[in-house]
Amino acid sequence: NAIHGFLAALPKCEHHMHLEGSLSPELLFELSARNKVALPSPETEDPAFASVETLYERYRNFTSLDDFLHYYYIGFTVLLHESDFEALAYAYFTRAASEGVRHAEVFFDPQVHIDRGIAYETMVNGFTSARRRAEADLGITSLLVPCLLRHLPVPASLACFTTMREAGHFRDGTLAGLGLCSTEKDRPPHMWEEVYGLAAKEGIRLTAHAGEEGPAAYISEALDTLAVTRIDHGVNARLDEGVMERLASQRTMLSVCPLSNVVLRVVTKVAEVPIRTFLDKGVPFSINSDDPAYFGGYILDNYCAVQDAFGLSVAEWRTIARNAVEGSWCTEERKEVIF
Ligand code: ADE
Ligand code: ZN
Repeated sequence: NAIHGFLAALPKCEHHMHLEGSLSPELLFELSARNKVALPSPETEDPAFASVETLYERYRNFTSLDDFLHYYYIGFTVLLHESDFEALAYAYFTRAASEGVRHAEVFFDPQVHIDRGIAYETMVNGFTSARRRAEADLGITSLLVPCLLRHLPVPASLACFTTMREAGHFRDGTLAGLGLCSTEKDRPPHMWEEVYGLAAKEGIRLTAHAGEEGPAAYISEALDTLAVTRIDHGVNARLDEGVMERLASQRTMLSVCPLSNVVLRVVTKVAEVPIRTFLDKGVPFSINSDDPAYFGGYILDNYCAVQDAFGLSVAEWRTIARNAVEGSWCTEERKEVIF
């Protein structure tokens, strides 16, 4: 397919990729052995952990966001040392650069690591050194964005935000913004209004996962109560004409993750992701991999899946690529070099 070659060469920006979501079953077993961290027993706890193959097979059969998150957070347990975080992030940057990603804004979930006794500095130092090395060796620029977690109590988000702010990491650029992820149902965005308000006062860039499993109303609520300038996922905007029009008129970028949406059963097939509608109505979006090790594809697989479902023109792909560059949080100078 000739256009797949074109898509591979297209300069890409990725805005929705959880570093922990790039932990492959191979690396999971390797780190489990090296760090002497036991995984669930395949005999008595979960047969999926029998081998790399059975785990991949289980990943192909997620039934919901929460079903995925269960495995995703088990993956965290094998990450102990700064070098583990460094290796995880560097492997992602290598793969992304090989698929034409020039700039990546990557998420991580500090709360879960802190709660299991990993020092905040351990993960941040590991990720930061991978970012520096990847920029020097591969020419890929990146920004690091922590996500607060919706399945944990709101005061825990406040405490984590305070730790990051007091480290001076929003001011010195170690952290480029603030996100919100994890379980969406029954955890409406307004619950995080206080934390986001504190972040907004410091001029921190804000985004949040909304409208993935949750209703389109959570997208408007995130815009209204959290003052986010970007929405992660946002596919359920397709269920509400008013939300769709608002996103278009405000030019709020959605970081869409097509293969993730299929694997987590947000849609039944990629063709149900409203790519055509977004293009026709002028809703800016980027195409992303979310948790590539769990959802069967990195960014280029997502671009190709969209192409196979929608048969877009070269001009439409250029629009998508340009919108992704424009919606990035990098400097204007960097944007000009990329596109
Ligand atoms: N954390 C990692 N991936 C996620 C997703 N797709 N939705 C919500 N939280 C997540
Ligand atoms: Zn996500």
